[in-house]
Order: sequence, then C-alpha cells, then structure tokens
Amino acid sequence: MHGNEGGETGVDDDVAAQGFVGIGAWILGRNMFGPVRGPWPDESWRGWWGEEPPYHTPVFVLTHHPRPPLKMKGGTEFRFVTEGIDSALRQAVDAAGGRDVRLGGGVSTIRQYLNAGLIDELRLTISPVLLGTGEHLLSGIDMRALGYECAQHTPGTRAAVHVVLRKRA
Ligand SMILES: NC(=O)c1ccc[n+]([C@@H]2O[C@H](COP(=O)([O-])OP(=O)(O)OC[C@H]3O[C@@H](n4cnc5c(N)ncnc54)[C@H](OP(=O)(O)O)[C@@H]3O)[C@@H](O)[C@H]2O)c1
Repeated sequence: MHGNEGGETGVDDDVAAQGFVGIGAWILGRNMFGPVRGPWPDESWRGWWGEEPPYHTPVFVLTHHPRPPLKMKGGTEFRFVTEGIDSALRQAVDAAGGRDVRLGGGVSTIRQYLNAGLIDELRLTISPVLLGTGEHLLSGIDMRALGYECAQHTPGTRAAVHVVLRKRA
C-alpha cells in the first residue's frame, strides 16, 4: 500500500482489502494524519502517505486547529474539521453519497464515536503481542451495554484473528 516490494496474499490481505470496498468518505483523528501537535506551524505536513494517499475519497480530519483543505492526487482530499464528531460525521455522510463512512482511528476518535453510539460495525484485528502501555481502545467502555455483539471472527494466516463487532439492530 505504501509502495514497498513483496507482501502476501491470503486472509489477512483480503480483510485489509475489504476495508476499502464501498467507502465514500473517511474520518480520522489528527494524530492519525500525522505527528504535528498544536497549531499547524505551516502547511508542509501532507500526511504519512505521500502525494497519492490510499483513500481516494474526502477524508475528514478532526482537530482543534483550523487548516485549509488539502487536495492530493487520486481523489483524496483532507478536510480539517474543528466542530467536533457530529459535524465530521454529517459532512462525511454527505460526501459519501450513499456509500459507507469509514472511521480510520486513532483510539481517541474511535472511543468518542463508540461512546456516542455512532459506530454500526467495528472491525478489529487482534494480535497476541504485548505492547505494554499505550492507548486503550475499549477500556472503561461497556460494549455490551452499548449494544454490541461479536458477529464474526476469522483466523488470519499470521498470528492474528479478525473480529467484527456489530451493533444489534
Ligand atoms: N499506526 C497507526 O495506524 C496509527 C493510527 C492512529 C493513531 N496512531 C497513533 O496512536 C496514538 C494514539 O492515537 P490518538 O488516540 O491520539 O489519535 P487520534 O484519535 O487520531 O487523534 C486525537 C487528536 O485528534 C483531535 N481530535 C480528536 N477528537 C476531536 C474532536 N472531537 N474535536 C476536535 N479535535 C479532535 C485532537 O487533536 P488536536 O487537538 O491536537 O487538534 C486529538 O488530540 C498516536 O500516538 C498516533 O500516532 C497510529
């Protein structure tokens, strides 16, 4: 995806590829977009992904620090949203034109949308690696009380399992 040689096919690749199907807009937190914190010193940071990011749709980036939209090659446009998660979702749904909106992380952003009950389906890949400390995705969130159930789990070809958590209708 980032222009490297090699790679592999199989269940893990299928799961990754499936995550890009039918998506009309993305929402990201600012820390997913890049390492710059605080007010933008300038507009030189253009994301991790080079001039042609893998999104190919509008991408709404949540931040407290305004910045003009950034058009990239291949149809990706980063639009910076300072009015919070509901506004970002409204704009993303409009832009998606009937296709799905994918929330690409990071942890803080996913937790806000989960707590607001706004995520229909959460696709997680869980790997048995002890990371120590870090951001805790589900800590303190009662997924059952929010109405989620484990709808699907698929073993990967590497040491990983792909889990789909879905909100009960
Ligand atoms: N490997 C990966 O693919 C990946 C993906 C995502 C994150 N990460 C890493 O994971 C770590 C944790 O991620 P995170 O939880 O910090 O990331 P995050 O959700 O991407 O970003 C959080 C930041 O987004 C902005 N934001 C979030 N909600 C907002 C709201 N409602 N209104 C306005 N702004 C809002 C704030 O930035 P400001 O107030 O600064 O504008 C906030 O500090 C980070 O170190 C990141 O680098 C890795």
